[in-house]
Amino acid sequence: KDRPRVLSGIQPTSGSFHLGNYLGAVRQWVDLQKDNDAFYMVVDLHAITVPQDPKELRENTRISAAQLLGAGLDPDHCTLFVQSHVPEHAQLAWVMNCLTGFGEASRMTQFKDKSGRYGAESTTVGLFTYPILQIADILLYQADAVPVGEDQRQHVEITRDIAERFNTRYRPTFTVPKPYILKETAKIQDLQDPAVKMSKSASSAKGLVNLLDDPKASAKKFKSAVTDTGTVVSYDEEEKAGVSNLLRIHSALSGQSIDQLVAHFEGRMYGALKTELAELFTEWVTPFQERTRTYLDDPAELDRVLAIGAEKAREVASQTLETVYDRIGF
Ligand code: ADP
Ligand code: NA
Repeated sequence: KDRPRVLSGIQPTSGSFHLGNYLGAVRQWVDLQKDNDAFYMVVDLHAITVPQDPKELRENTRISAAQLLGAGLDPDHCTLFVQSHVPEHAQLAWVMNCLTGFGEASRMTQFKDKSGRYGAESTTVGLFTYPILQIADILLYQADAVPVGEDQRQHVEITRDIAERFNTRYRPTFTVPKPYILKETAKIQDLQDPAVKMSKSASSAKGLVNLLDDPKASAKKFKSAVTDTGTVVSYDEEEKAGVSNLLRIHSALSGQSIDQLVAHFEGRMYGALKTELAELFTEWVTPFQERTRTYLDDPAELDRVLAIGAEKAREVASQTLETVYDRIGF
Protein backbone atom coordinates (compact mmCIF):
# COMPACT_ATOMS: atom_id res chain seq x y z
CA LYS A 1 0.00 0.00 0.00
CA ASP A 2 1.74 3.17 -1.15
CA ARG A 3 -1.16 5.55 -0.52
CA PRO A 4 -3.99 5.59 2.03
CA ARG A 5 -6.88 3.32 1.12
CA VAL A 6 -10.38 4.70 0.97
CA LEU A 7 -13.54 2.64 0.62
CA SER A 8 -17.24 3.44 0.47
CA GLY A 9 -20.49 2.20 -1.04
CA ILE A 10 -23.95 3.34 -2.00
CA GLN A 11 -27.18 1.39 -2.37
CA PRO A 12 -28.87 1.15 -5.77
CA THR A 13 -32.26 0.93 -4.07
CA SER A 14 -34.23 3.58 -5.87
CA GLY A 15 -32.22 4.46 -8.95
CA SER A 16 -31.71 8.17 -8.46
CA PHE A 17 -29.40 9.35 -5.71
CA HIS A 18 -30.67 12.21 -3.58
CA LEU A 19 -28.91 15.41 -2.62
CA GLY A 20 -27.98 14.00 0.81
CA ASN A 21 -26.17 11.07 -0.81
CA TYR A 22 -24.25 13.44 -3.05
CA LEU A 23 -23.27 16.11 -0.53
CA GLY A 24 -22.84 13.71 2.39
CA ALA A 25 -20.81 11.06 0.59
CA VAL A 26 -20.28 11.01 -3.17
CA ARG A 27 -18.71 14.47 -3.38
CA GLN A 28 -16.04 13.40 -0.90
CA TRP A 29 -15.47 10.23 -2.94
CA VAL A 30 -14.66 12.39 -5.94
CA ASP A 31 -12.25 14.58 -3.95
CA LEU A 32 -10.53 11.64 -2.28
CA GLN A 33 -9.88 9.65 -5.46
CA LYS A 34 -6.96 11.91 -6.39
CA ASP A 35 -4.62 11.32 -3.46
CA ASN A 36 -5.84 7.94 -2.25
CA ASP A 37 -6.12 4.41 -3.44
CA ALA A 38 -9.91 4.57 -3.60
CA PHE A 39 -12.44 1.75 -3.88
CA TYR A 40 -16.08 2.66 -4.45
CA MET A 41 -18.94 0.28 -4.99
CA VAL A 42 -22.63 -0.01 -5.70
CA VAL A 43 -23.79 -2.23 -2.85
CA ASP A 44 -26.42 -4.41 -4.48
CA LEU A 45 -26.07 -7.10 -1.79
CA HIS A 46 -27.30 -4.54 0.71
CA ALA A 47 -30.26 -3.65 -1.49
CA ILE A 48 -31.90 -7.07 -1.10
CA THR A 49 -32.28 -6.65 2.65
CA VAL A 50 -35.66 -5.25 1.59
CA PRO A 51 -37.81 -6.58 -1.29
CA GLN A 52 -36.44 -5.76 -4.78
CA ASP A 53 -37.73 -6.42 -8.27
CA PRO A 54 -34.93 -8.20 -10.24
CA LYS A 55 -35.31 -6.13 -13.40
CA GLU A 56 -35.37 -2.87 -11.45
CA LEU A 57 -32.45 -3.88 -9.26
CA ARG A 58 -30.33 -4.65 -12.33
CA GLU A 59 -31.30 -1.35 -13.94
CA ASN A 60 -30.84 0.68 -10.76
CA THR A 61 -27.38 -0.79 -10.23
CA ARG A 62 -26.33 0.50 -13.66
CA ILE A 63 -28.02 3.85 -13.09
CA SER A 64 -26.14 4.15 -9.80
CA ALA A 65 -22.78 3.40 -11.40
CA ALA A 66 -23.53 5.90 -14.18
CA GLN A 67 -24.37 8.58 -11.60
CA LEU A 68 -21.10 7.98 -9.77
CA LEU A 69 -19.26 8.54 -13.04
CA GLY A 70 -21.49 11.52 -13.79
CA ALA A 71 -20.62 12.99 -10.39
CA GLY A 72 -16.93 12.86 -11.31
CA LEU A 73 -15.50 9.47 -10.38
CA ASP A 74 -12.75 8.68 -12.84
CA PRO A 75 -12.02 4.99 -13.47
CA ASP A 76 -8.38 5.96 -14.04
CA HIS A 77 -8.19 7.31 -10.49
CA CYS A 78 -10.36 4.92 -8.52
CA THR A 79 -11.72 1.41 -8.57
CA LEU A 80 -15.46 1.45 -9.25
CA PHE A 81 -17.31 -1.85 -9.01
CA VAL A 82 -20.52 -3.66 -8.13
CA GLN A 83 -20.46 -5.49 -4.80
CA SER A 84 -22.01 -8.76 -6.03
CA HIS A 85 -19.27 -9.07 -8.67
CA VAL A 86 -16.81 -9.71 -5.83
CA PRO A 87 -17.92 -12.88 -3.98
CA GLU A 88 -15.41 -12.28 -1.17
CA HIS A 89 -17.82 -9.75 0.41
CA ALA A 90 -20.34 -12.45 1.28
CA GLN A 91 -17.58 -14.86 2.28
CA LEU A 92 -15.89 -12.49 4.72
CA ALA A 93 -19.31 -11.41 6.03
CA TRP A 94 -19.85 -14.91 7.43
CA VAL A 95 -16.61 -14.69 9.37
CA MET A 96 -17.65 -11.26 10.66
CA ASN A 97 -21.05 -12.65 11.69
CA CYS A 98 -19.21 -15.11 13.90
CA LEU A 99 -17.11 -12.39 15.53
CA THR A 100 -19.94 -9.95 16.25
CA GLY A 101 -21.98 -10.23 19.42
CA PHE A 102 -25.76 -10.41 19.10
CA GLY A 103 -26.05 -7.68 21.72
CA GLU A 104 -23.66 -5.38 19.94
CA ALA A 105 -25.43 -5.91 16.61
CA SER A 106 -28.74 -5.18 18.37
CA ARG A 107 -27.49 -1.74 19.35
CA MET A 108 -27.35 -0.51 15.73
CA THR A 109 -29.84 2.33 15.63
CA GLN A 110 -30.38 2.19 11.85
CA PHE A 111 -31.87 -1.27 12.25
CA LYS A 112 -34.23 0.00 14.91
CA ASP A 113 -35.33 2.82 12.59
CA LYS A 114 -35.70 0.69 9.48
CA SER A 115 -37.24 -2.44 11.00
CA GLY A 116 -39.87 -0.30 12.68
CA ARG A 117 -41.05 0.56 9.19
CA TYR A 118 -41.67 -3.04 8.11
CA GLY A 119 -42.79 -4.87 11.26
CA ALA A 120 -41.20 -8.01 12.73
CA GLU A 121 -42.65 -10.54 10.26
CA SER A 122 -41.51 -8.67 7.14
CA THR A 123 -38.12 -7.69 8.53
CA THR A 124 -35.36 -9.94 7.22
CA VAL A 125 -32.39 -11.24 9.16
CA GLY A 126 -30.36 -9.64 6.35
CA LEU A 127 -31.57 -6.19 7.39
CA PHE A 128 -30.40 -6.99 10.92
CA THR A 129 -26.97 -8.23 9.83
CA TYR A 130 -26.37 -5.67 7.09
CA PRO A 131 -23.92 -3.69 9.25
CA ILE A 132 -21.90 -6.92 9.53
CA LEU A 133 -21.74 -7.27 5.75
CA GLN A 134 -20.58 -3.67 5.80
CA ILE A 135 -17.80 -4.59 8.23
CA ALA A 136 -16.62 -7.13 5.66
CA ASP A 137 -16.96 -4.55 2.84
CA ILE A 138 -14.57 -2.21 4.62
CA LEU A 139 -12.06 -4.67 6.08
CA LEU A 140 -11.62 -6.62 2.83
CA TYR A 141 -9.85 -3.60 1.35
CA GLN A 142 -7.78 -2.73 4.45
CA ALA A 143 -9.37 0.72 4.24
CA ASP A 144 -7.84 3.55 6.25
CA ALA A 145 -10.80 5.89 5.78
CA VAL A 146 -14.49 5.50 5.00
CA PRO A 147 -16.19 8.63 3.60
CA VAL A 148 -19.86 8.54 4.68
CA GLY A 149 -22.67 10.65 6.11
CA GLU A 150 -23.30 10.97 9.84
CA ASP A 151 -25.91 8.17 9.81
CA GLN A 152 -23.13 5.69 9.07
CA ARG A 153 -20.80 6.69 11.91
CA GLN A 154 -22.00 3.91 14.21
CA HIS A 155 -21.36 1.30 11.52
CA VAL A 156 -17.77 2.45 11.07
CA GLU A 157 -17.33 2.38 14.85
CA ILE A 158 -18.45 -1.26 15.09
CA THR A 159 -16.13 -2.06 12.16
CA ARG A 160 -13.23 -0.68 14.20
CA ASP A 161 -14.23 -2.83 17.19
CA ILE A 162 -14.43 -6.00 15.14
CA ALA A 163 -11.14 -5.30 13.32
CA GLU A 164 -9.43 -4.87 16.69
CA ARG A 165 -11.09 -8.02 18.01
CA PHE A 166 -9.84 -10.09 15.08
CA ASN A 167 -6.36 -8.59 15.35
CA THR A 168 -6.23 -9.46 19.05
CA ARG A 169 -7.79 -12.92 18.83
CA TYR A 170 -5.64 -14.09 15.90
CA ARG A 171 -2.91 -11.64 14.98
CA PRO A 172 -2.67 -8.21 13.40
CA THR A 173 -4.47 -8.62 10.09
CA PHE A 174 -6.82 -5.71 9.49
CA THR A 175 -6.28 -1.99 9.16
CA VAL A 176 -8.55 -0.28 11.70
CA PRO A 177 -10.53 2.25 9.60
CA LYS A 178 -11.59 5.76 10.51
CA PRO A 179 -14.83 7.42 9.43
CA TYR A 180 -14.33 10.41 7.13
CA ILE A 181 -17.29 12.67 7.83
CA LEU A 182 -17.42 16.34 6.88
CA LYS A 183 -19.38 18.22 9.52
CA GLU A 184 -21.08 20.71 7.18
CA THR A 185 -22.60 18.15 4.83
CA ALA A 186 -22.83 15.06 7.06
CA LYS A 187 -26.54 15.48 7.60
CA ILE A 188 -28.56 17.11 4.85
CA GLN A 189 -32.10 17.56 6.13
CA ASP A 190 -35.46 17.00 4.47
CA LEU A 191 -36.70 20.19 2.76
CA GLN A 192 -40.21 19.80 4.16
CA ASP A 193 -39.26 18.49 7.60
CA PRO A 194 -35.91 19.98 8.59
CA ALA A 195 -35.95 17.96 11.82
CA VAL A 196 -35.19 14.72 9.94
CA LYS A 197 -32.50 13.74 7.44
CA MET A 198 -33.26 13.64 3.74
CA SER A 199 -33.75 9.97 2.90
CA LYS A 200 -35.17 8.00 0.02
CA SER A 201 -37.21 5.83 2.35
CA ALA A 202 -38.42 8.37 4.91
CA SER A 203 -38.79 11.68 3.07
CA SER A 204 -41.96 12.88 1.36
CA ALA A 205 -41.75 13.52 -2.39
CA LYS A 206 -41.57 17.28 -1.77
CA GLY A 207 -38.87 17.01 0.86
CA LEU A 208 -36.55 14.81 -1.21
CA VAL A 209 -34.33 16.22 -3.98
CA ASN A 210 -33.58 13.43 -6.44
CA LEU A 211 -30.61 14.11 -8.68
CA LEU A 212 -32.25 12.56 -11.75
CA ASP A 213 -35.56 14.41 -11.45
CA ASP A 214 -36.41 17.25 -13.82
CA PRO A 215 -34.33 20.18 -12.48
CA LYS A 216 -37.40 22.40 -12.76
CA ALA A 217 -39.25 20.16 -10.30
CA SER A 218 -36.29 20.25 -7.91
CA ALA A 219 -36.06 24.04 -8.20
CA LYS A 220 -39.69 24.21 -7.07
CA LYS A 221 -38.87 22.07 -4.04
CA PHE A 222 -36.14 24.50 -2.99
CA LYS A 223 -38.50 27.42 -3.47
CA SER A 224 -41.16 25.82 -1.27
CA ALA A 225 -38.76 24.52 1.37
CA VAL A 226 -40.09 24.78 4.93
CA THR A 227 -38.34 27.47 6.97
CA ASP A 228 -39.74 29.44 9.94
CA THR A 229 -41.72 32.59 10.63
CA GLY A 230 -38.63 34.79 10.97
CA THR A 231 -37.20 36.95 8.20
CA VAL A 232 -33.48 37.30 8.84
CA VAL A 233 -31.19 34.84 7.04
CA SER A 234 -28.88 33.59 9.79
CA TYR A 235 -27.40 30.29 10.93
CA ASP A 236 -29.02 28.61 13.93
CA GLU A 237 -29.47 24.84 13.79
CA GLU A 238 -31.91 24.81 16.73
CA GLU A 239 -34.17 27.77 16.02
CA LYS A 240 -33.76 27.94 12.24
CA ALA A 241 -33.20 24.34 11.18
CA GLY A 242 -34.71 24.85 7.71
CA VAL A 243 -32.77 28.01 6.86
CA SER A 244 -29.57 26.51 8.28
CA ASN A 245 -30.00 23.43 6.09
CA LEU A 246 -30.47 25.64 3.01
CA LEU A 247 -27.39 27.65 3.97
CA ARG A 248 -25.30 24.49 4.32
CA ILE A 249 -26.46 23.21 0.93
CA HIS A 250 -25.74 26.60 -0.65
CA SER A 251 -22.32 26.71 0.95
CA ALA A 252 -21.47 23.22 -0.34
CA LEU A 253 -22.57 24.02 -3.89
CA SER A 254 -21.19 27.58 -4.11
CA GLY A 255 -18.01 27.15 -2.10
CA GLN A 256 -18.85 30.25 -0.04
CA SER A 257 -18.64 30.05 3.74
CA ILE A 258 -21.78 30.32 5.88
CA ASP A 259 -20.55 33.68 7.19
CA GLN A 260 -20.08 34.98 3.66
CA LEU A 261 -23.58 33.84 2.78
CA VAL A 262 -25.17 35.45 5.83
CA ALA A 263 -23.47 38.72 4.85
CA HIS A 264 -24.52 38.24 1.23
CA PHE A 265 -28.20 37.83 2.18
CA GLU A 266 -28.26 40.67 4.70
CA GLY A 267 -31.37 42.79 4.30
CA ARG A 268 -33.00 40.16 2.06
CA MET A 269 -35.50 37.51 3.05
CA TYR A 270 -35.72 33.73 2.84
CA GLY A 271 -37.12 33.89 -0.70
CA ALA A 272 -33.82 35.28 -2.01
CA LEU A 273 -31.88 32.39 -0.47
CA LYS A 274 -34.30 29.82 -1.89
CA THR A 275 -34.25 31.32 -5.39
CA GLU A 276 -30.48 31.51 -5.48
CA LEU A 277 -30.19 27.95 -4.20
CA ALA A 278 -32.60 26.69 -6.86
CA GLU A 279 -30.39 28.33 -9.51
CA LEU A 280 -27.16 26.97 -8.05
CA PHE A 281 -28.56 23.47 -7.89
CA THR A 282 -29.82 23.63 -11.48
CA GLU A 283 -26.41 24.82 -12.67
CA TRP A 284 -24.74 21.86 -11.00
CA VAL A 285 -27.31 19.17 -11.75
CA THR A 286 -27.78 19.87 -15.46
CA PRO A 287 -24.26 18.84 -16.53
CA PHE A 288 -24.34 16.04 -13.93
CA GLN A 289 -27.41 14.60 -15.65
CA GLU A 290 -25.81 14.97 -19.08
CA ARG A 291 -22.68 13.11 -18.01
CA THR A 292 -24.76 10.40 -16.35
CA ARG A 293 -26.80 9.97 -19.52
CA THR A 294 -23.65 9.56 -21.62
CA TYR A 295 -22.75 6.50 -19.57
CA LEU A 296 -26.28 5.12 -19.69
CA ASP A 297 -26.32 5.54 -23.47
CA ASP A 298 -23.15 3.47 -23.81
CA PRO A 299 -23.83 0.19 -21.99
CA ALA A 300 -20.72 -1.48 -23.40
CA GLU A 301 -18.46 1.21 -21.93
CA LEU A 302 -20.22 1.00 -18.55
CA ASP A 303 -19.80 -2.80 -18.58
CA ARG A 304 -16.14 -2.40 -19.42
CA VAL A 305 -15.53 0.05 -16.55
CA LEU A 306 -17.35 -2.19 -14.06
CA ALA A 307 -15.57 -5.34 -15.24
CA ILE A 308 -12.16 -3.72 -14.81
CA GLY A 309 -13.26 -2.43 -11.40
CA ALA A 310 -14.41 -5.88 -10.27
CA GLU A 311 -11.13 -7.40 -11.35
CA LYS A 312 -9.06 -4.81 -9.48
CA ALA A 313 -11.26 -5.16 -6.39
CA ARG A 314 -11.02 -8.95 -6.42
CA GLU A 315 -7.25 -8.83 -6.46
CA VAL A 316 -7.24 -7.05 -3.11
CA ALA A 317 -10.29 -8.81 -1.65
CA SER A 318 -9.12 -12.34 -2.44
CA GLN A 319 -5.75 -11.66 -0.86
CA THR A 320 -7.35 -10.46 2.37
CA LEU A 321 -9.75 -13.40 2.48
CA GLU A 322 -6.95 -15.88 1.95
CA THR A 323 -5.01 -14.42 4.88
CA VAL A 324 -8.12 -14.40 7.08
CA TYR A 325 -8.98 -18.03 6.28
CA ASP A 326 -5.44 -19.04 7.06
CA ARG A 327 -5.42 -17.22 10.42
CA ILE A 328 -8.75 -18.76 11.42
CA GLY A 329 -7.56 -22.30 10.72
CA PHE A 330 -9.29 -23.06 7.38
P1 ADP B 1 -29.92 6.22 2.16
O1 ADP B 1 -29.32 6.58 3.49
O2 ADP B 1 -30.64 7.35 1.49
O3 ADP B 1 -30.72 4.93 2.22
P2 ADP B 1 -27.44 4.93 1.43
O4 ADP B 1 -27.64 4.12 2.65
O5 ADP B 1 -27.12 4.21 0.16
O6 ADP B 1 -28.68 5.86 1.18
O7 ADP B 1 -26.32 6.00 1.73
C1 ADP B 1 -25.29 6.35 0.86
C2 ADP B 1 -24.44 7.41 1.51
O8 ADP B 1 -25.16 8.64 1.62
C3 ADP B 1 -24.01 7.06 2.95
O9 ADP B 1 -22.66 7.44 3.14
C4 ADP B 1 -24.89 7.91 3.81
O10 ADP B 1 -24.31 8.22 5.06
C5 ADP B 1 -25.07 9.14 2.95
N1 ADP B 1 -26.31 9.86 3.24
C6 ADP B 1 -27.57 9.38 3.12
N2 ADP B 1 -28.48 10.31 3.46
C7 ADP B 1 -27.78 11.41 3.81
C8 ADP B 1 -28.14 12.73 4.25
N3 ADP B 1 -29.42 13.09 4.40
N4 ADP B 1 -27.16 13.62 4.51
C9 ADP B 1 -25.86 13.27 4.36
N5 ADP B 1 -25.45 12.06 3.95
C10 ADP B 1 -26.38 11.14 3.68
NA1 NA C 1 -7.12 7.33 -6.54
